Amino acid sequence: MSRLIARTLQSLRKNPTHFISGGLLAQELGISRAALWKHVGILKAHGYVIESKKATGYRLISSPEGPFPWEVLLHLHSRLFSLNIVYKNSVPSTNELAAHLALKGTGEGTVIIAEAQTRGKGRMGREWHSPPGINLYTSAVLRPSWPPTKGPFLTLAAAVAVSETLEDLYGLRPQIKWPNDILLSGKKVSGILTEMNTEQDRVNFIILGIGINVNSSVENFPPSLRDRATSVREVLGKPVNRALCTASLYDHLDECYTLLQEHSLEGIRDKWEARSSLAGKLIQVSGPGGVLRGHAGTLDSDGALLIETDDGRKERIISGDITLCS
Ligand code: BTN
Repeated sequence: MSRLIARTLQSLRKNPTHFISGGLLAQELGISRAALWKHVGILKAHGYVIESKKATGYRLISSPEGPFPWEVLLHLHSRLFSLNIVYKNSVPSTNELAAHLALKGTGEGTVIIAEAQTRGKGRMGREWHSPPGINLYTSAVLRPSWPPTKGPFLTLAAAVAVSETLEDLYGLRPQIKWPNDILLSGKKVSGILTEMNTEQDRVNFIILGIGINVNSSVENFPPSLRDRATSVREVLGKPVNRALCTASLYDHLDECYTLLQEHSLEGIRDKWEARSSLAGKLIQVSGPGGVLRGHAGTLDSDGALLIETDDGRKERIISGDITLCS
């Protein structure tokens, strides 16, 4: 359905000043006039202004900005992530919906996109602030034939994919704060929440949830986040198109996922380490085991962060909150 709507849009956009006859359009798309009428209705319901004139046809007057599946498909090259894109106006959490669909058997590559989340989940039981209509909240279902120990690699791969998207589309220079915070000028612009469903030594599915503050303004952040969070819009000084951002994200994710499948962590290690905000810095890690201080190093073969503590011990960090010591 989304693919046909994308093609309908494409045809309407080819000749923006002219009416295109319904019969011709339906023929071009290989669908009935009734089906075309339904697609036009869906577009109108999403805010597209389409003029329809009896015995003349349709004309597209304006398109709204939004990460609609048909707009994403017009930019997306990835086959995997174009198979099934589910778009919702509002959900409690795209990760929850993705997990629900995965339990019902949805295939690898299923993508959920929502305009808003009412209970967006962050790491460590935190909330992910998810106001409507301005940002990107998306989750993908993956079913790699890996042992669960490799699950965290996907978080690292997603961090690379988000960074590459911000670099390619907007010329920005994001940094990755281990394991999954993406920073612009030291403030968080994106977070990743990877959730695994496993069975003994195998992964059933992994939900990769990504939130990017795309078009938030300072006023959209709660006061408690204002000095720690930013958005693409804040940094660029202008709003950007979320459909394009979503498509680029999934193209980069497809590439990083392939690299992981072919070369394991080594496939993305250099890309990740080149963007690390922590390398060589003195950091403090607060985790379940207490607080550690030391100089951050590289990743070990399991994706853990290596640090050298003040008394010369080498420690592996597998989870925790990291702060830079000035
Ligand atoms: C973090 O704490 O940094 C992780 C934030 C992850 C947020 C995204 S938004 C889309 C997906 N759905 C969720 O409920 N969370 C993730």
